[in-house]
Amino acid sequence: MKLRIVSAALAAIVAAAGVLSFAGDGTHRAGSVADDTVAALELHLSGIVTSAMAQAASHRLLIDVHSEKGLACTACHGEAAFSEPVEEAKCIACHGTYAELAVKTPQQPNPHQSHMGELACATCHNIHKQSVSHCDDCHSFGMQVP
Ligand code: HEC
Ligand code: HEC
Ligand code: HEC
Ligand code: HEC
Repeated sequence: MKLRIVSAALAAIVAAAGVLSFAGDGTHRAGSVADDTVAALELHLSGIVTSAMAQAASHRLLIDVHSEKGLACTACHGEAAFSEPVEEAKCIACHGTYAELAVKTPQQPNPHQSHMGELACATCHNIHKQSVSHCDDCHSFGMQVP
């Protein structure tokens, strides 16, 4: 989504700058200010696109992780309507309880063992949109939540 917006912006700006560089006497003059502007913009924007791509890769949505493992929608939603809440027991059945999860994520601070107790998984993990670091609402751990 973000990447598509950035790419569209890149195309629009480069197109606009292109029009600029042909303005005036109607010929394309190498080394004109407009050319330099286009080159600078392209360089700058390709950097933004690259970092947006890197970000997209490191912030993959959990739905993709699950789909790639061959899980069907029903693995979480069962036969219920999608608008019905997904039971957390489904997550725990596959991933283990808080005590078991805490062993899998032993680094400190442990997101699954803290003074916050047993939060709903969805406090941090979202399936269809970006997850959030609830801990960083108050702290500055910079916790990366898959
Ligand atoms: C790993 C578990 C999981 C899988 C697999 C999954 N979902 Fe979900 N889905 C959820 C959870 C949890 C929610 C509640 C909101 C959230 O966390 O994003 C949800 C919410 C939704 C919603 C929004 C419901 C609403 O009214 O807000 C839709 C639509 C949906 N899922 C469709 C799907 C479809 C289609 C698939 C299969 C391609 C799928 N889901 C697979 C866990 C899952
Ligand atoms: C049917 C089993 C199943 C269910 C139900 C399920 N998952 Fe998963 N989940 C998996 C598998 C398989 C993976 C891929 C990694 C692995 O093999 O452990 C995974 C991966 C994950 C990861 C790690 C992703 C990563 O990139 O490291 C998280 C977080 C996660 N699931 C959260 C949830 C949450 C929250 C729910 C409930 C809404 C849920 N899962 C429901 C099977 C399941
Ligand atoms: C306070 C935020 C938070 C809550 C609440 C939370 N998690 Fe996590 N979870 C994380 C973070 C952060 C990581 C990444 C830890 C790491 O990379 O070592 C993680 C990692 C995971 C993983 C991947 C573990 C692995 O083997 O690497 C799974 C599976 C998972 N969580 C499932 C759950 C389930 C199921 C629940 C609810 C019972 C839950 N989490 C609740 C923050 C949270
Ligand atoms: C609502 C705010 C809030 C949230 C959310 C929160 N904390 Fe805290 N946390 C605090 C406060 C307040 C303290 C006590 C601060 C102090 O004593 O300096 C604390 C203390 C801690 C400490 C001890 C720090 C120390 O220096 O001894 C750790 C570790 C910690 N939190 C981890 C977490 C983790 C992990 C999460 C997410 C699961 C989390 N916190 C979420 C407010 C919060």
